[in-house]
Amino acid sequence: MRKLAAGNWKMNGTSAELSELDALAKVHAESSVDVLICPPATLLSRAADRAGNSIFVGGQDCHAAKSGAHTGDISADMLKDAGATHVILGHSERRTDHGETDATVRVKTVAALGAGLLPLVCVGETESERDAGDTLDVIRSQLAGSLPDDLNGADFVVAYEPVWAIGTGRVPTLYQIAEVHELMRAELTGRFGSSANETPLLYGGSVKPGNAAEIFATSNVDGALVGGASLKASDFGAIIQALE
Ligand code: G3P
Repeated sequence: MRKLAAGNWKMNGTSAELSELDALAKVHAESSVDVLICPPATLLSRAADRAGNSIFVGGQDCHAAKSGAHTGDISADMLKDAGATHVILGHSERRTDHGETDATVRVKTVAALGAGLLPLVCVGETESERDAGDTLDVIRSQLAGSLPDDLNGADFVVAYEPVWAIGTGRVPTLYQIAEVHELMRAELTGRFGSSANETPLLYGGSVKPGNAAEIFATSNVDGALVGGASLKASDFGAIIQALE
C-alpha cells in the first residue's frame, strides 16, 4: 500500500492560501507517498485545478443524500464534481459540533464510496475515555459502527485521532499509538479479511515536523492526518519527507 500524508485545513484558508498548495505541488511532484490536501469547500475546485496530478484534493465532510433540500450541505457527487478524490468523514469536530454519530458516519461512508471517493474515516477517544481505560473499547465500537459491511480494505482509510491530542501539542506515547493501530488492523482483518492489510491507518493529533519521523516508524502507522501543520507548505513538506 502507498503511504498517505493528508492535510486537513479545517475552516482555514482563502484564495491567498492556495499559494501554499502551489509550493507543495512543486516540491512533491515526484513524491513516493500520496499527498492529500482537504481545504475548505470554498477552495476545493480551485485547489484541484492547481494541484494538478501531484497532490490529491479532498472534502472535509459530505451529506449522505445525493441531492435535495439540505441547505448548506454538500453531496459526495458534488465533491467529486469539484475535483475531490477523497473525503474526511466522522472527524471528532463533526461528531462534536454537528452531533454526528457512528451511524451518520456509516451512511456518509456509503455515499462517498458510491460517488467514487475514498473515505478517510476518523475515530478517537476523548481524554476522559482514555483516563477511564476505555480507549480500545471506544475505538472498537467506533470502527464497528462507522464502517459499512462488505468493504474491501483498499477502498477506505482509517485515521486514529485521539480527541485530546488534536490541536493541543499533546501526543500519545508511541506505545499508545502502536496499541491502537494494532487493534484497528486486527479489527479490520476480522471484518474484511486480508484486504485489511491494504487499508492505510493514519495517526492524527499534533503531528509536527519534529515528531513525524518517530510516529511514522511506529508499527501499523501508514501516514498521518495533519491539521495545523498542514497549513504551511514548509511544515507539511517536512512531514511528507519524514514519511517518504
Ligand atoms: O484532522 C487533523 C486533526 O484533527 C489534527 O489536528 O492540528 O492537531 O494536527 P492537529
